[in-house]
Amino acid sequence: MLFDIRPKTRLKDLFDREREINELKQSIELGEPLIIIYGVRRVGKTSLLRACLNEFGYPYVLIDVREVFEEHSYITKNHLYEQMARFFTSNLEFFEKLGFRIKDLLKHIKVFHLSNIGIEVDLSVNVSITSILRTFNDWAKKHSTRFIIAFDEAQYLRFSGATRYDGIFAWAYDNLENLTIIITGSEIGVLRDFLKLDNPKAPLYGRYVREIILNKFTTEQSREFLKKGFNELGINIHDHEIDEVINKLDGIPGWLTLYGYYRGIQKLDHKKALNKVFETGSKLVIEELEKIIAPSKQRYLAILEAITHGATRWTQIKTYIEYRTKTRIADKNFTNLLKKLVKYGIIEKQEDQYKITDPLIIHAIKTIVSQPT
Ligand SMILES: Nc1ncnc2c1ncn2[C@@H]1O[C@H](COP(=O)(O)OP(=O)(O)OP(=O)(O)O)[C@@H](O)[C@H]1O
Ligand SMILES: [Mg+2]
Repeated sequence: MLFDIRPKTRLKDLFDREREINELKQSIELGEPLIIIYGVRRVGKTSLLRACLNEFGYPYVLIDVREVFEEHSYITKNHLYEQMARFFTSNLEFFEKLGFRIKDLLKHIKVFHLSNIGIEVDLSVNVSITSILRTFNDWAKKHSTRFIIAFDEAQYLRFSGATRYDGIFAWAYDNLENLTIIITGSEIGVLRDFLKLDNPKAPLYGRYVREIILNKFTTEQSREFLKKGFNELGINIHDHEIDEVINKLDGIPGWLTLYGYYRGIQKLDHKKALNKVFETGSKLVIEELEKIIAPSKQRYLAILEAITHGATRWTQIKTYIEYRTKTRIADKNFTNLLKKLVKYGIIEKQEDQYKITDPLIIHAIKTIVSQPT
């Protein structure tokens, strides 16, 4: 069902994305070692990843790095092993269906303890990530397949203390020919900084990486998505309402889905459903935004406020922020603040003009600014 608000896990529930599905499939079939899926928040990265991996027929493990970070505020290898154990436990049937006895693989990895209830992590055992990756690789080789390890929202791996994941990925890239690593990230600039793909001194520099960019839906795709979703539910919606939704939610699949959910499943009327998307959506966005802007809240907010008020160019925004904060700001510092917002996917730069990436972020900014400090 298209209006299911969880990430999709089946290709039949994934609207469009033919090009991205084919590219991902081809890239794995070609034996490429490292694939990155970029896209702003709620564009459908996790859905693409889960639906494809569930159906491509390769053994895989998926680690939700953001979840680990949210739970622990930092990442250790044992946290990652716990995610793996959880994944394997809930996907035993999946592996069986593919004809793989995953327990035969896991019994060679000392950190995993197999019991009747599933797979657990033995915290008293110290096993390196590289040795686990090598075991996955060797096992895949023996079964003439590829093993895929996917890190959803991998930029959070930067909170791993001394462990350098870019180095581990580069090592796997060079040595493990039956392993494919897939990484996703919504904070695109942050992820690229973390992987240091463009830094000649860094381990991954110069290696070919498949980069798949997930874009928002176009107006036409959004229209089709909504119509198809309501069709599935046997509901007829007026064109002018669909137009308003498209206009206000700007092709972000997550918000379109949420509208479809409120309208089609909770059966709210058009206005109420749309308001509810703004209300619940901007609560989520405010939480995310507050974390990002916290280091220099007043200045970041002034920048975002300027853009929501129509300032789009560097000079216009700078003038606004200096007026608003009543202090001058050095050009370099100002540029850094702008760059940081771009890195986190809050704003984007197109032909020297800055734009906020998501209408719900605009709504969230207005709410934050109107709150008494
Ligand atoms: N192509 C699609 N077809 C159907 N539903 C989609 C599609 N893309 C996204 N969705 C829906 O939109 C919502 C957001 O999708 P998903 O969680 O996959 O995005 P994401 O990019 O991983 O988001 P985040 O950055 O928050 O992790 C979910 O409700 C999902 O079901
Ligand atoms: Mg996701």
